[in-house]
Amino acid sequence: NVSCDSKRGALIVLEGLDRSGKSSQCLKLASSLASQGFSVEAWRFPDRTTAMGKMISAYLSSKEDMDDRTIHLLFSANRWEKRSLMEAKMKAGTSLIVDRYSYSGVAFSAAKGLDLSWCKAPEVGLPAPDLVLYLDIAPEKAAERGGYGGERYEQLDFQRKVAELYTALSDSAWQIVDASLSIDSVHKILKELSIQCISDCHRGKELSFLWP
Ligand code: TYD
Ligand code: MG
Repeated sequence: NVSCDSKRGALIVLEGLDRSGKSSQCLKLASSLASQGFSVEAWRFPDRTTAMGKMISAYLSSKEDMDDRTIHLLFSANRWEKRSLMEAKMKAGTSLIVDRYSYSGVAFSAAKGLDLSWCKAPEVGLPAPDLVLYLDIAPEKAAERGGYGGERYEQLDFQRKVAELYTALSDSAWQIVDASLSIDSVHKILKELSIQCISDCHRGKELSFLWP
């Protein structure tokens, strides 16, 4: 990488079961990095604000039924419609802290019984995360936290299958973090790992693409 003044931002993804604490940790991480002077944005998938996101939202709240493969492709398309903006942000030096990504896409669909490699195919070519922070929690523990919102997928048996699928997807970008620790302890771990990752990207680590 020749130009030293163009520091790229990192793609940092939080994954984990429903109620593992992703959404709160994602916002907490983004705001504490921002307060330290890092250029960061908190993102989430599904992005329910787009036309596709609204269809996904209707499906999740069981207002709409859909074929398993159709909804899978919609979740994927919802990431593809954000691809150029994601890449532009990173190129401009902003790091993205993303609540769920392709791993959710594959784990949740494959947990329904769809073929794993079929599920991975539409994700091929999306920016690969520089770091995946997996908030590891036993499905039973997550269920105890309560507050499953009544959306599709928020059931213990299903979450058990999702947990197995996540394990099958982990690669060298993954860091497994014990999500049963206190909110502050988890935050501290996520922050250290993120700062290390962002500085690697600033020092010229190249963006790669799924599936690395
Ligand atoms: P979630 O982050 O739980 O949204 P909220 O915090 O508003 O409840 O995401 C909604 C659900 O969608 C969650 O159960 C995981 C599932 N999902 C997929 O099945 N495929 C995907 O590609 C993504 C991003 C999420
Ligand atoms: Mg949820």
